[in-house]
Amino acid sequence: MGIYIRSIAAYIPQRRVSNDELSKTVDTSDEWIQSHSGIKYRHICADNEDTSDLGVKAAEIAIQRADIDKSAIDMVIVATASPDYPGFPSTASIIQDKLGLENAGAFDLVAGCTGFVYGIEVGRGLLTGGRIRNLLVIGAETLSRITNWQDRNTCVLFGDGAGAAVLSVDDEYPDAVLDAELKSEGSGAQHLIRPAGGSSRPIDLKTIKPEDLFIQMNGRQVYNFAVRVNTEIIQGLLERNSLTIDDLRWIVPHQANIRIIQAAAKRLGLPMEKFFLNIDEYANTSAASIPIALNDLYENALLSRGDLILLTGFGAGLTYGGALLRW
Ligand code: ACO
Repeated sequence: MGIYIRSIAAYIPQRRVSNDELSKTVDTSDEWIQSHSGIKYRHICADNEDTSDLGVKAAEIAIQRADIDKSAIDMVIVATASPDYPGFPSTASIIQDKLGLENAGAFDLVAGCTGFVYGIEVGRGLLTGGRIRNLLVIGAETLSRITNWQDRNTCVLFGDGAGAAVLSVDDEYPDAVLDAELKSEGSGAQHLIRPAGGSSRPIDLKTIKPEDLFIQMNGRQVYNFAVRVNTEIIQGLLERNSLTIDDLRWIVPHQANIRIIQAAAKRLGLPMEKFFLNIDEYANTSAASIPIALNDLYENALLSRGDLILLTGFGAGLTYGGALLRW
């Protein structure tokens, strides 16, 4: 059974915010942000754009590129840490409705920035089960809505965007997801968290601290975790599949910080040229970052059918994971 990635697409909000623009409202600088993260710009959604709108725009292009009838889409998986509504309804159901996917089921997948990697492997599992033939995996985020714009430790790092892939079963194609590993280290949950608004700390208007409704991060702990797990995932997937770096066309990492990728590359003795990076333009778009990167590769003709690529993700949970794909 051939389960393959039939199309990839992305949607990036129009508004492009430079580091200089940010440094007018928060105590930071272009020099600090670039030297500590590699970020130059981030794109921020319009006031009337929700996460579902970004996901819909990416998915519309993916469906068009897949040349598939909407009625043939059986499932919508949306990886997001910034859903339209907290808890319910799912952003996936809203996207299913906005796209007019009359035959599709829909659910959100919460795995932080690793969400798209989880989505690809979960989607593969559903298609392997044999009951469905086509599905959408979407990573969509409006992190600007859950960012504390007064907190310079976090607000300079994030951006908005969406990416979408159509996965299909077709016996004429070889399997695309050759291997995957999905992991969690929940003991580090507190290092990247929105503390209030859930069952653990429900919103109490008398006691709520506004900053607890937004992303809070222990940057150093997340950095150390990210370098360690990136190294582990890349090494593990290569060794397990008897591959060397030369067999890969690209490593496509979650775009959180260029220094995380540089440190992992150094530990593994890998050339930076193998890693596809676009963090300078989009910053960290969480679950959307990997599909946006794949779309950049696709649109710039930097991917050919048959290429081997390795995805690595890490983020809130703390979760991490990787997937070895034959494009
Ligand atoms: N501008 C200027 N100075 C700043 C800024 C800023 N935007 N942010 C922090 N600083 C200051 C700090 O206050 C600190 O000052 P102090 O020494 O006087 O206290 C100083 O810069 C250095 O801070 P460090 O934390 O040591 O800086 P570091 O080199 O670790 O870089 C960073 C910080 C970029 C956050 C880094 O730790 C990192 O990338 N961590 C991982 C982040 C990440 O990947 N997060 C996303 C995970 S994905 C997800 O699921 C959402």
